[in-house]
Amino acid sequence: MGLTNPFKVSYTLYAIFPIIGLIISFYFVPLPFITFQIKLPYYSISTPLMINTSSNSSGKIEYANENSCDYSNGKWVRDERGPLYNGTSKYCKMKKNQNCIANGRPNTEYLYWRWKPNDDCNLPRFDPSTFLQLIRNRHVAFVGDSVARNQIESLICMLGSNNDDDSSKPKRLYHKGSRKWNILSHNANLSFYWSPFLVRGDMRSQKGPHYNTIYLDHVNERWARDLDEMDMIVISLGHWFDVPSIYYEGGSISSCLKLPQLGYCNHHVNDFYDPLRQALRVALNTIIEAKATKVRTYSPSHFEGEWNKGGTCLKDKPYEDGEKKVEGMDAEIRRIEMEEVEIAKEKAKEFGGLIRLEIMDVTKLALLRPDGHPGPYMNPFPFASKIVQNDCVHWCLPGPIDTWNEILLEIMKKLVLHSKAE
Ligand SMILES: *[C@@H]1O[C@H](CO)[C@@H](O)[C@H](O)[C@H]1NC(C)=O
Ligand SMILES: *[C@@H]1O[C@H](CO)[C@@H](O)[C@H](O)[C@H]1NC(C)=O
Ligand SMILES: *[C@@H]1O[C@H](CO)[C@@H](O)[C@H](O)[C@H]1NC(C)=O
Ligand SMILES: *[C@@H]1O[C@H](CO)[C@@H](O)[C@H](O)[C@H]1NC(C)=O
Repeated sequence: MGLTNPFKVSYTLYAIFPIIGLIISFYFVPLPFITFQIKLPYYSISTPLMINTSSNSSGKIEYANENSCDYSNGKWVRDERGPLYNGTSKYCKMKKNQNCIANGRPNTEYLYWRWKPNDDCNLPRFDPSTFLQLIRNRHVAFVGDSVARNQIESLICMLGSNNDDDSSKPKRLYHKGSRKWNILSHNANLSFYWSPFLVRGDMRSQKGPHYNTIYLDHVNERWARDLDEMDMIVISLGHWFDVPSIYYEGGSISSCLKLPQLGYCNHHVNDFYDPLRQALRVALNTIIEAKATKVRTYSPSHFEGEWNKGGTCLKDKPYEDGEKKVEGMDAEIRRIEMEEVEIAKEKAKEFGGLIRLEIMDVTKLALLRPDGHPGPYMNPFPFASKIVQNDCVHWCLPGPIDTWNEILLEIMKKLVLHSKAE
């Protein structure tokens, strides 16, 4: 007989299915490769971006969209080319729950779509050698929750898909506090830091406590202590916020979420928007103070029904443009994020033109892809067991999340072009 616990939830589901996501990335304004001067003290540790304009592996870097393209609006169109990789490559080590094909997902239609931004814009197919050139001598860090991890695993698989020699493939390195990959041929590193709140905190767990403990005014040192080594940061947050939480500020409890039973908590809040905003602001300030640039919005989930009550994501096609709007909690999180980025941009100006923030908004393109989640195929032979779990938050690999990395690459190219024009 277990003790009755008022906070008990389905832990398996909980641990695997975050509910909300916010993903942010920064990109240091790359210095033109001709101008190698270190202009600000905080660049002294990170290496300036060096682009070999003389060639990519086969020629020149293509700037597909020299005029600023809005990648956030568009539609999914059929594309028979299919993905760059599959889970059988030895360089592609994805989490099993996202290896939908290996888990038996029979319908592979979801692999044959490409994002077509509005107007004359096109999103080029991901080119691993261009990406590698852009990160030569650099360290790109993904910080956040399991969606950040989902994205970097997609990136690793995409980078591993080229036909170049072994030295250009990402290899795991041992690093305390993160997962780290090194690409020998380009002296580049990629890393993933688990930090779902960005600030310091502990997630609720099966062993207890059954609520999050979040220190809203302290950045999580796990990633922040390595900031000096990072040249680009992709952040995601949100998925772990919508559960019972105790918030601390100034060393004592400031408020509580979804914990009406707690007598010692004097201030109960109804939603996590302010805490999320605060956590984001602390993270942004910390980064700006070290360095900065570009931000990406969050990826909605697609449970029809509630995630912990047998919610599913059964759609097998993208939504069409106009069929689905960004609304409710999705819209609110996106708004908070946009606002905080504007504030952060103002702050970044104090550091001169070399620090820039750009928003990369993947909310809509993600929202239109309910068919890209593992759903029941998060586990092998899902229908063999009595309880079928569904994951409508993460993305199958390969899958729509590959597109985010394509956009990331275009933004990186644009920044390089921009810095050359200055
Ligand atoms: C640029 O690429 C060419 C051809 O791959 C190579 O020979 C040259 O060393 C590269 N330059 C730099 C600065 O990496
Ligand atoms: C590399 O250059 C070749 C020749 O100009 C071009 O066809 C190819 O698309 C380029 N690749 C990238 C990634 O820019
Ligand atoms: C996976 O990729 C490999 C190498 O590109 C290919 O030989 C294989 O047929 C692919 N498998 C599937 C299931 O697509
Ligand atoms: C990559 O990581 C290794 C091991 O931590 C480190 O020695 C190297 O300086 C890093 N390189 C870059 C460009 O960050």
